[in-house]
Amino acid sequence: MSPVLEANELGRDYEVGGGLFSKPGVVRAVAGTSFTVEAGKTLAVVGESGCGKSTLARMITMIEAPSAGSLRIDGTEVTPERWPELRTDVQIVFQDPYGSLNLRQKVGQILEEPLKINRKELSPADRQAKAREMMRLVGLREEHYDRYPHMFSGGQRQRIAVARALMLEPKLLVLDEPVSALDLSIQSQILNLLNDLQERLNLAYLFISHDLSVVHHVADDILVMYLGRPVEYGSRDAVFNSPRHPYTKALISATPTADPTKRRQRIKLQGELPSPLAVPPGCAFAPRCWKAQDKCRAERPQMTGEAQPAACFFPES
Ligand SMILES: Nc1ncnc2c1ncn2[C@@H]1O[C@H](COP(=O)(O)OP(=O)(O)OP(=O)(O)O)[C@@H](O)[C@H]1O
Ligand SMILES: [Mg+2]
Repeated sequence: MSPVLEANELGRDYEVGGGLFSKPGVVRAVAGTSFTVEAGKTLAVVGESGCGKSTLARMITMIEAPSAGSLRIDGTEVTPERWPELRTDVQIVFQDPYGSLNLRQKVGQILEEPLKINRKELSPADRQAKAREMMRLVGLREEHYDRYPHMFSGGQRQRIAVARALMLEPKLLVLDEPVSALDLSIQSQILNLLNDLQERLNLAYLFISHDLSVVHHVADDILVMYLGRPVEYGSRDAVFNSPRHPYTKALISATPTADPTKRRQRIKLQGELPSPLAVPPGCAFAPRCWKAQDKCRAERPQMTGEAQPAACFFPES
């Protein structure tokens, strides 16, 4: 069986600037990124702000075409001509449900809208029945059907956004920082809901987050990105217990753990994230890396290794 999602050497460039006094530059927002996501599994994508997570999400949800590489959904090559038929298989949930929900619509209308557009054969009564069933599935109550988004708390609004994303029975949900705007106690409710839904519906998740405690809770596999490129890819336990790339190690060392016997020495990263318009030659992480040698500043390391590939000339373990 083919994976629900397969990315092969995916890339996306943007031209920026080019004013009266400057030449246009190219931002390589994503480059050389490969991974797969199976049904019922979660791939977490992690990395600092600007590393290309949302750009990746826009390509996978077919908002934007890649400028390099390819994507397959359920074995089908994704091309812009096929977007209309493939789009219903992939839905997205954003960090801020306030920005992504139509505030003038009641919950019932919000949930029925995708059906109106994509499932024209359904009668209004069928649509309503489906919306109400979905509301039950995400833990909203009967009477919420006639309420507006502003009448809900942040966590409830995120339930509405998840419900809407599931109305067309997608195979893959892209979750772009879905709990980052919520209080800690609400975060775990939403994460548990996502977990339940995944089991029930055999959904594949691409879960974008900068919060490694959240990632540890949800991920089967982890892809670590740095300045648009993958630096490490492996199972959650392998990446957390024996990170190979120094950048991964630094990220994980800064994550609090509940178990005092497993406290890690915190590695503080030196220096700033370089500008995406002036990515250092060689390994982009080298200027901040405590292990960097001349080779790292001259040559860019490829992703190597079978079970847990990493892009580093001098990996840990
Ligand atoms: N439409 C665009 N035009 C020009 N540059 C862009 C565009 N979209 C993204 N970029 C640049 O591409 C890089 C990756 O951006 P992206 O939004 O994907 O990062 P991110 O990992 O989602 O960051 P954050 O954690 O802040 O959400 C950044 O340097 C960003 O400035
Ligand atoms: Mg983003």
